[in-house]
Amino acid sequence: MVGVGRTIDWTDGAVVIVDQCALPAEHRLLRLETVTELIGAIQRLAVRGAPALGAAGALGVALAARAHDGDAGAVRADAERLATARPTAVNLRWGVERALAKLPGGTEAVLAEALTLLDEDVRVNREASGHAARLLLDRCERRPLRLLTHCNTGRLAAVDWGTALGVVRHLHAARQLEYVLADETRPLLQGARLTAWELAQEKIPYRLLPDSAAAAAMARGLVDAVVVGADRIAANGDTANKIGTYAVALAAARHGLPFVVVAPSSTVDGELPDGGAIVLEQRAPEEVTHVAGTLVAPEGAEAFNPAFDVTPVDLITAVVTEHGVVAGSAR
Ligand code: MRU
Repeated sequence: MVGVGRTIDWTDGAVVIVDQCALPAEHRLLRLETVTELIGAIQRLAVRGAPALGAAGALGVALAARAHDGDAGAVRADAERLATARPTAVNLRWGVERALAKLPGGTEAVLAEALTLLDEDVRVNREASGHAARLLLDRCERRPLRLLTHCNTGRLAAVDWGTALGVVRHLHAARQLEYVLADETRPLLQGARLTAWELAQEKIPYRLLPDSAAAAAMARGLVDAVVVGADRIAANGDTANKIGTYAVALAAARHGLPFVVVAPSSTVDGELPDGGAIVLEQRAPEEVTHVAGTLVAPEGAEAFNPAFDVTPVDLITAVVTEHGVVAGSAR
């Protein structure tokens, strides 16, 4: 089976990532030797997903520290460029700052911290998704479970294992999963290109559906619960995640289905009291007006293309991290 290694790692002085722009057609690795190359990969989503962005931030500071040995000002300037490469996932700045804090100890101390962060990412996401799997088994009567998910929250969105898709993995291993309904996740199709690829690799039963069919699947009784990841969680539990998540949460509430957010605690931004202040990345109109490079709208059409939305906590059954349930409504 391909694709079971880490999504992002450090090899022979460079950051090596699974190139997510090439999947599912091709599983290939990209070697990134400079901060500028890494920022380019982050911005075109060759590496993406909040936990993976935390790892990228930390490893990027290691690249900077090596490139500017002894020049702390230059390292800090690169670190700031990295931290602002994408605005919504708080993990990116968190990873950068964690590694940067070790700069007084020298380049090797920065790298050691980044590698520790990578190991922790795998462990905490396994723990968080284990808590969420148990919660769903408590909340849902039907066995085995039929879950709906949005975007990609698996190995490809983290260093390994994943968050919401980690829940799927735990339940599948315990023979408690019937299938996954995976939203295709317009406009960049993380669900179709990446989640479906991961599920197929692991022979986990799934069906893809257009985002617009999620509510209809619930209405037809095909879903027991929804499980998603997060890019930034405010102190009150309001959660920014891939565009379309809010609509799924509204539909889940209408159908009385549990809606569970799974994330490492590094995705919680305790400095924001609620989701109103979360900066939501706006991306290029071409992502909407074109499909696979072909224009599908009138020439010059304008587009509204936010990459993320905010789901208010009253629509969220539970926000689950490695520490267990940290927020949520009684719903
Ligand atoms: O734009 P992306 O692909 O980086 O967005 C990713 C998501 O929204 C994920 O759901 C989120 O980062 C959680 S990943 C475990």
